[in-house]
Amino acid sequence: MQQFLCPICQKELVSDGKSLSCKNRHTFDLSKSGYVNLLPPNAKHSKNPGDNKLMVDARRNFLEKGYYLPLSRTLCAQALRFCKGLKNPCIVDAGCGEGYYTSQIWESLAKVTQPEIFGIDISKFALNIAAKKNKSIRYAVGSVHHLPVASESCDLLFNLFAPYSGEEFQRVLKKDGIFIMVIPGKDHLFGLKEAIYEQAYQNKIKDYALTGFQLLDKVVVEDEILLKSQEDIKNLFMMTPYYYKTSQSNKEKLDHLESLETKISFEILIYQKEKI
Ligand SMILES: C[S@@+](CC[C@H](N)C(=O)[O-])C[C@H]1O[C@@H](n2cnc3c(N)ncnc32)[C@H](O)[C@@H]1O
Ligand SMILES: [Zn+2]
Repeated sequence: MQQFLCPICQKELVSDGKSLSCKNRHTFDLSKSGYVNLLPPNAKHSKNPGDNKLMVDARRNFLEKGYYLPLSRTLCAQALRFCKGLKNPCIVDAGCGEGYYTSQIWESLAKVTQPEIFGIDISKFALNIAAKKNKSIRYAVGSVHHLPVASESCDLLFNLFAPYSGEEFQRVLKKDGIFIMVIPGKDHLFGLKEAIYEQAYQNKIKDYALTGFQLLDKVVVEDEILLKSQEDIKNLFMMTPYYYKTSQSNKEKLDHLESLETKISFEILIYQKEKI
């Protein structure tokens, strides 16, 4: 069984149900909801790094309504594709947020195998929600740049709308391990942008090449969604970067909307760790 690693001495951490400790007696308490804080002090650049409670609650409330189900179903299918035949696939969700996708991936894999899933995010607000939802997934506050998991231990690594850390992802993946990244497609949320801005622009799609990874496959998920309440529109807006860079007068345009139709578009990029 894979374990989290101690952020101080990198030895394995063993749980007694209340805390995790390594053989050098570094001890980390489990929170009431069940996550552990393994963020090295030098990786913490503010009091509460990562997404704040407002952003986390908005995303949780929006995702729970099922608007992004086409994406989560496709991610589950991809997890099954790559974990087929593995008895205890080890999976890391780097930047897992409130564990919306993490828990659905666990549920679909648990029907056919015994997955060991680690969710890591720098926001304790996000993990507080994630850890309450699924007690079989192990959650730690940590950074994508210093994942508290062993080198070459991971069969599959997800990085969904979260910061990327190429060398660290390479380190934790097994030889031939699979890395799945999701990025917004060019028309993602175009309807929302049209409602806010005079001139809405498509997203720019980045170059897919990643050092140390070979692109195996690209899966596009697209749909048209209808948001039927002011609350859903506000939650969607607050979970996007637009909320933080839009003028007050443009923000107010959404106040008068009772419904909003928008395209959603995601690119699922599937890579394999390159042989060195
Ligand atoms: C847009 S959210 C995506 C969350 C989740 N993957 C999802 O798709 O629902 C980005 C997440 O990255 C986290 N994050 C930001 N910087 C991070 C870092 N250096 N290490 C780990 N997580 C980070 C934030 O706290 C936030 O939960
Ligand atoms: Zn230690």
